[in-house]
Amino acid sequence: MSLFHITRTLPEDATEAALRADVRHGLTGAFKTLPPKWFYDAHGSELFERITELPEYYPTRAEREILLDRSEEIAAVAGARTLVELGSGSSEKTRHLIAALTGLHTYVPVDVSESALTGAGHALIAERPTLRVHALIADFTAPLTLPDTPGPRLLAFLGGTIGNLLPDEREAFLASVRALLAPGDGLLLGTDLVKDEGVLVRAYDDAAGVTAAFNKNVLAVVNRELGADFEPDAFDHVALWDAENEWIEMRLRSRTAQTVKVPALDLAVDFAAGEDLRTEVSAKFRQEGVRAELAGAGMELTHWWTDRAERFALSLSVVR
Ligand SMILES: C[S@@+](CC[C@H](N)C(=O)[O-])C[C@H]1O[C@@H](n2cnc3c(N)ncnc32)[C@H](O)[C@@H]1O
Repeated sequence: MSLFHITRTLPEDATEAALRADVRHGLTGAFKTLPPKWFYDAHGSELFERITELPEYYPTRAEREILLDRSEEIAAVAGARTLVELGSGSSEKTRHLIAALTGLHTYVPVDVSESALTGAGHALIAERPTLRVHALIADFTAPLTLPDTPGPRLLAFLGGTIGNLLPDEREAFLASVRALLAPGDGLLLGTDLVKDEGVLVRAYDDAAGVTAAFNKNVLAVVNRELGADFEPDAFDHVALWDAENEWIEMRLRSRTAQTVKVPALDLAVDFAAGEDLRTEVSAKFRQEGVRAELAGAGMELTHWWTDRAERFALSLSVVR
C-alpha cells in the first residue's frame, strides 16, 4: 500500500497576504530586504536543484557525504517512527536516512514549495511503497501542527537552511521546534561551517550564473504575484561575506537610479544607483555556537559529524 497526502496548512490567500506584508515591509525600510522563502516558486525550486549540482556549491555534496557515512548510526540512535523534515525541497539527500530508518512509519516533508513536495513525494513512494508520506505546504517560521503519527519523532532540518534565519529568528525557531518534540525525540540539524572567504563567496556566486538567476527569481515572483515591474537586468547579483556576523549575504544591486512600481500595494519604490536589496543571509557556524543555541532551546547536542574536509556539520540533539 502506498500513501501520499499533501496538505496546505494555510489558505492561498494567506500566502499572498504574507507576501504583500513582506514586500511592503521589506521595500519601504531604510535598508531594503526580502525574506528568502519567496525565491521558491516552481522555477526557483528548479534553480535551487541546479545550484546543488554546481562545482562551487559544496554544501550539498558535503552533507550527502555525511548522510551516506552516518545514516545507520543516526537511525540507531534516533529509532524514529516519524521523520519530519523542514524545508525538505527535493528530499534527495534524505533518501539515505529514510533507507536507514527501517522502522519508519511516516515521512512528513514540510516546505513552501508545492512543486518540490509533489515531486519528492512521488519519487519516494515509488522507491519505498510501504512508506506513508504526509507532505505539508507550510511556512516553518509560523506555528506548525504536525499530523498525529507514531513516535519517536526525528525532526530533520538539512541543507544549512537554518542559516537563512537571523539570530533572533533562529532563537524563536528553535523554541518552536522544541515545542513540537517530546522527550526521546531528536533534532538532526545541518549547519554550514565558517571557512575561507573565497570558498564561501564562490559558493554563492558561481561562474555559470545559476545563483544569480536564482537570486533574481524573487523579482519575477513579485512581478507575477503583485504586478510589479522589476526589470531583472537592471540589478546585479552580489554575494558578500560579513566577517563580523559570520554570514554570507546575497543582494541585488540596482545598476541605476530607478523607480519600481508595485501596483497591488499601490507602492512606488525608489532605488539609488548602487543601492542594495538584501535577499538572503546564510549564516555559517562553529560547533560551540550550535551547541549553545540548541542548549538555549532546551536540547542537548549529543553527536557532531562533519564531512572529511570539515566544511559542513550534521548534529544530532536529543530532547530529555
Ligand atoms: C536551501 S533549500 C534546501 C533544500 C533541501 N533541504 C536541501 O538540503 O537541499 C531551502 C528549502 O526550504 C524551503 N523553504 C525556505 N523557506 C521556507 C519557509 N519559511 N517555510 C518552509 N519552507 C521553506 C525552500 O522551498 C527550499 O526547498
